[in-house]
Amino acid sequence: MARDDNTILSALKPLCTRSAVTAAATKSTRAPSLAIYNAIRNTGYTFRYVSTESPSYKMIKTETQGRVAIITLDRPKALNALCSELFHEINDALAKFDNDGAIGAVVLTGSERAFAAGADIKEMKDTEFINNYKSNFLGHWVEQISKMRKPILAAVNGYALGGGCELAMMCDIIYAGEKAVFGQPEISLGTIPGAGGTQRLTRAVGKSKAMEMILTGSVNLDAHEAKSLGLVSSVFPPEKLVEETIKTAARIASKGAVAVQMAKEAVNHAYELNLASGLHFERRLFQATFATKDQKEGMSAFAEKRKPTFTHE
Ligand code: CAA
Repeated sequence: MARDDNTILSALKPLCTRSAVTAAATKSTRAPSLAIYNAIRNTGYTFRYVSTESPSYKMIKTETQGRVAIITLDRPKALNALCSELFHEINDALAKFDNDGAIGAVVLTGSERAFAAGADIKEMKDTEFINNYKSNFLGHWVEQISKMRKPILAAVNGYALGGGCELAMMCDIIYAGEKAVFGQPEISLGTIPGAGGTQRLTRAVGKSKAMEMILTGSVNLDAHEAKSLGLVSSVFPPEKLVEETIKTAARIASKGAVAVQMAKEAVNHAYELNLASGLHFERRLFQATFATKDQKEGMSAFAEKRKPTFTHE
């Protein structure tokens, strides 16, 4: 066992409670190994690793739970309005987790009051077209998220308006708390959605509803409407939302990482390719999974009536 793991174990002992173990691994410079995570999980405890590696983040909090990373937007006074610095931090954390082999899925969430109330209106109100064009304003929002190979699950409580709704829609799965509100109010500010709202919302809820929301700026979706239209896949009580989202993320992260990434890539191509090209792409990826150890393990485990142990290779 590595030295960091021993540090974590000794930090854990005094922190044990009946239902949960929270490790503030102050001396560790990395997430705990799979071995230590499994050892603790076998005791029936929940393992939650709160990284102290990210004190430089001012507007988000990051933590890991097993193979799941959780990014929490933390700009409460502005209802998580997405200013440049906040987005920079989100992108930075996403890039780190995407490159971390110990992480299999990411959960993105906000507070119970707001997932995010949109782009920061005060920050952008005096900017000019020429500078926005030259700097490709908002371009950096989508760059990192669209590059992410690991699944991202949005846990949306409260307001998801404008850029907040768009941020949720950039994720792969959206779960909502019962009081979530989805809307695209940009038209009331004299502008239009600029981070995918006109495209992703239309694909998710259909043209008529998307037009109604975007053109009025005031027709919003509550959580149950969003679910019935297919924008979100499940609705939970607000206080259970993050926990339930982490459970699904953990289920995804327990699968072979290569197959998960290929499946995500194939589903995303359903948006971009015609059916024949999409089916062709999917079949090639399916065939490619037979070059992985996880496929051999998964199918052997089925035939041998046992649980698979994926190594993500
Ligand atoms: N930008 C900057 N600040 C914001 C903000 C935003 N998008 N949303 C909320 N805030 C700030 C408020 O200004 C307020 O700050 P102060 O206390 O300093 O005044 C604080 O957050 C709390 O907000 P409210 O007092 O307004 O809270 P409320 O409960 O009365 O209303 C709300 C909540 C309905 C979400 C309301 O804040 C609101 O309408 N916000 C703006 C929503 C919006 O228009 N979003 C779209 C932005 S444009 C965009 O996102 C473009 C894009 O496509 C990327």
